[in-house]
Amino acid sequence: MPFLYNMITIIVAIAENNGIGYKNQLLCHLPGDLKRFRSITMGHNLIMGKKTWESLPNKPLKGRKNIVLTDMAGDSFEGAFSALSMENALEQCDQDKETFIIGGGSVYRQFMPLADKLLITHLHKAFEADTFFPVIDSTLWEVISNEDHLTDDADPISFSYTTYIRKRG
Ligand SMILES: NC(=O)c1ccc[n+]([C@@H]2O[C@H](COP(=O)([O-])OP(=O)(O)OC[C@H]3O[C@@H](n4cnc5c(N)ncnc54)[C@H](OP(=O)(O)O)[C@@H]3O)[C@@H](O)[C@H]2O)c1
Repeated sequence: MPFLYNMITIIVAIAENNGIGYKNQLLCHLPGDLKRFRSITMGHNLIMGKKTWESLPNKPLKGRKNIVLTDMAGDSFEGAFSALSMENALEQCDQDKETFIIGGGSVYRQFMPLADKLLITHLHKAFEADTFFPVIDSTLWEVISNEDHLTDDADPISFSYTTYIRKRG
């Protein structure tokens, strides 16, 4: 019998120019977005690439099953599981929980065709970037909710939390 995957959700913050990272760091610090990320993903499976794992200031991300993709068979990650392929990562997910793809660029690109849902923080500003998110094809994805926000800094950034689901049929 083929292996059945649980629901796959991509969660990411994307700048206006589709940038998501620069020099292995996020493009900006949005405390509210990080809190929201923690609360949405708490208790669930997280799949990430090795560079994203390396970029985390505090690892593993507590209260969640951290799974790190690498091609290096000998690599291990304290507090996390390692996976040598997408399929191997999905097989290690707890099936009674949701699976979140948390980056970075290479991992988002690979999981886009498998994802059921996208939770996107759209930053209404362009940033210098070296890592990008693929274009979200509106013929494949439907927006089901959108909330606009503004950071409360002296130099505020406006952003939206947008949820997309894959169009069926
Ligand atoms: N804006 C956001 O929401 C957000 C979220 C997360 C990350 N980011 C940013 O994204 C950037 C990092 O992205 P990235 O594309 O450079 O790196 P990445 O996707 O985090 O990691 C790439 C590495 O993951 C491993 N890997 C990926 N796919 C694999 C597969 N199918 N099988 C086995 N191993 C696989 C490889 O590791 P090996 O080299 O060990 O083989 C590869 O070099 C950073 O700037 C980070 O801050 C942004």
